[in-house]
Amino acid sequence: MNLIEPAFDLADPRTWDNVGKPWPSNEQRMLTCCRVIDETHDVRTFQFRTDDGLPVRFEPGQFMTVSASARGRPVERCYTISSPPTRPYLLSITVKRVAGGVMSNWLHEDMRPGCRLQAYGPSGTFTPTVSSAPKLLYLSAGSGVTPLMSMTRASIDLGLDRDIAFVHSARTPADIVFQKELHRLAALSPRLRVFFVCEGTGDEPDWTGPTGRLNLRLLAERIPDYAERETFTCGPAGYMSAVKKLLDEGGCDPERYHQERFDIAPPAGFEDDIVAQTTFTVRLARSARSFTMNASETVLAAAKRNGVAIASSCSQGVCGTCKTKLIEGDVDMRHNGGIRDREVQKGFRLLCCSRPSSDLLLDL
Ligand code: FES
Repeated sequence: MNLIEPAFDLADPRTWDNVGKPWPSNEQRMLTCCRVIDETHDVRTFQFRTDDGLPVRFEPGQFMTVSASARGRPVERCYTISSPPTRPYLLSITVKRVAGGVMSNWLHEDMRPGCRLQAYGPSGTFTPTVSSAPKLLYLSAGSGVTPLMSMTRASIDLGLDRDIAFVHSARTPADIVFQKELHRLAALSPRLRVFFVCEGTGDEPDWTGPTGRLNLRLLAERIPDYAERETFTCGPAGYMSAVKKLLDEGGCDPERYHQERFDIAPPAGFEDDIVAQTTFTVRLARSARSFTMNASETVLAAAKRNGVAIASSCSQGVCGTCKTKLIEGDVDMRHNGGIRDREVQKGFRLLCCSRPSSDLLLDL
């Protein structure tokens, strides 16, 4: 079956500019839960709509920072949006219940249709707009399936004829998130191939799929042209480093490898800098407030110390939540992918990973 390519593609940012209304990543809004779906024994999808009921603009693969008072504690967490931007009236997050995890347990126990939650607008650079490659390889493990699911759903909703090979790894067959839906989507689209690798069979001894860990032999057997594909990977840090090693051994081009980065160390060298104990003044244009800070601290840390509320989440230059326009002055910013070059050119900076090198005027 041949599909006719639509005017826009996953990789074309105009596709997403045409869908929904913008919601800046530093702006908080209320969301209302519409539906809770059990995906596996410990993973649930929570569907939300905005308070004004209007569609939201985002790109597949982006995430939201949600904030709540969970068990009496204020908590903020980043969750990838698992729904596609082609369905902009509902925003879904798919959350695994983690032992001891305050937010995930609160969501699983207390979040019901009608409950409300605060969230910052969509953010993140792990999206297919970075590449227009015709052949894609999606590799995920555990909850890392969510951004790739958003990309796959968007691709199918747009009727795209792009060639996607999707390999998801799980602990056991019972832990495979979106298993039925991925099989259904693969049946709809001849150019979507899906297979699952389970570490063990768990309670399903009849499992006929591959077991163990993903390896080069298995990948080459199922996806012989894997090295020709643009690769998007998301999963736990150990999985991603194993996958990167495996693809390097397989001769894949590192320039065509993209991964979601959440659990990372502070930017290299940032902790070790010897910064002169210089003091700078930071002025806030909109609130007409000001404070002084030392050159050795981040602007976000100094703002918080001075009682200035700035939206933030990861504090590692990843999520983009603290993105703020710098009107005057210079900072040394060492981010981890949470901001795009074009945003930097427009004067935006991530305050959680920026240290001042002059007095500053911020658009706050
Ligand atoms: Fe996440 Fe600054 S708080 S990038």
